[in-house]
Amino acid sequence: MAFRLAARQALRSTSLIRAPVARAAMSAIASRAAPAATAAVQARGFKTLDFGGTKEPVYERSDWPKEKIQEYFKNDTLAVLGYGPQGRGQSLNLRDNGLNVIVGVRKGGRSWNKAVSEGWVEGKNLFSIEEAADKGTILLNLLSDAAQRDLWSTISPYVTPGKTLYFSHGFAITYSDQTGVVPPKGVDVILCAPKGSGTTLRSLFLEGKGLNSSIAIHQDASGKAKEKTVALGVAIGSGYLYETTFKNEVYSDLFGERGVLMGAIYGLFRAQYDILRQNGHTPSEAFNETVEEATQSLFPLIGAKGMDWMYANCSVTAQRGALDWHQKFYDASMPVFKELYGRVVDGSESQRALDKNSQADYRESLEKELAEIRDSELWKTGRTVRQLRPENAGKQE
Ligand SMILES: NC(=O)c1ccc[n+]([C@@H]2O[C@H](COP(=O)([O-])OP(=O)(O)OC[C@H]3O[C@@H](n4cnc5c(N)ncnc54)[C@H](OP(=O)(O)O)[C@@H]3O)[C@@H](O)[C@H]2O)c1
Repeated sequence: MAFRLAARQALRSTSLIRAPVARAAMSAIASRAAPAATAAVQARGFKTLDFGGTKEPVYERSDWPKEKIQEYFKNDTLAVLGYGPQGRGQSLNLRDNGLNVIVGVRKGGRSWNKAVSEGWVEGKNLFSIEEAADKGTILLNLLSDAAQRDLWSTISPYVTPGKTLYFSHGFAITYSDQTGVVPPKGVDVILCAPKGSGTTLRSLFLEGKGLNSSIAIHQDASGKAKEKTVALGVAIGSGYLYETTFKNEVYSDLFGERGVLMGAIYGLFRAQYDILRQNGHTPSEAFNETVEEATQSLFPLIGAKGMDWMYANCSVTAQRGALDWHQKFYDASMPVFKELYGRVVDGSESQRALDKNSQADYRESLEKELAEIRDSELWKTGRTVRQLRPENAGKQE
């Protein structure tokens, strides 16, 4: 399906324009922390925006310049527990923002070696999980969700009144009957969940951009949990922050990644590719009409200017087909999405993730499943097609 050249050119020359915003009165939280000199900046940071008819508060980076963040956390030690994609991205961004950051991981493991290779020094800012949890005033629990359950009895003795316990997922707290994670009173329990991988969080930060993150408060012992969460959300490199609850964060996250973000999209790709192949189309044709055009041409346009704009800039033949068929796909997928949401809410999905991901051979069995995808005709074809992109000429993946 051909995409109009004019539309491609328009996209290249058009930058995203923000909708005008209604500026809200400053929050009590913001005013508590704000020195008079920064009041004007504060008013720009917190605002209420209209999201398709529903008003929601959002917090932007402009409210928390680097110097203010450094001043706010000057007496804190931020202990990042875990050095997977999130632990890595968040700790490096916090370090580059000039904060006192230490990393806690199990000695000699994959994460330990990675942290050493990226400049963390044993005994200075790299410790065992227990040592880091002991030293930290703010504990950023960025272990895998299964490890958050398995290591809670190790970490919890260091989660003492006056400290802050931070998560990037509502999982451990929401499914506390499965994880056993129940923080004591006297501790702020907060969440900032970047909406993307830690690798993206890091690379966007280095480019001066930022991922969106959601924030939530589970326990506000200090009376300043919200303000602290916003400050931390900016400090880890978020672009803007929107509010949620621990429960809604984990429900929407588990639902979304099993659905459109990862599970459903692959199911759709596979089904369409297989039908084309069963009807005699070549692998390259099936791949181009299923994946390549989606990721290289159309999805970026949806991201830049919306579905309506993408439709509006396609041929009338393509428009007619899409407008006629989207409802059928909606109807077909609704029962599956309903089943999925039910399994997220009743704890079946979280229990499965905990059971599978805490098995001793979880990395090996994961690798086996990923190898099956990698070695399928669909994704082997993908590798060849990617090599044919002019910008990849002569490069190895
Ligand atoms: N990845 C994302 O896109 C994303 C986005 C937003 C939020 N989150 C949330 O952020 C948190 C961290 O996620 P992630 O993807 O960065 O983590 P991850 O890759 O799943 O794991 C992170 C760390 O857990 C450690 N770990 C695992 N099992 C352990 C054990 N038994 N003992 C000690 N350490 C253990 C790993 O250390 P070793 O290397 O030593 O095994 C690694 O440092 C999770 O709550 C996740 O839901 C993730």
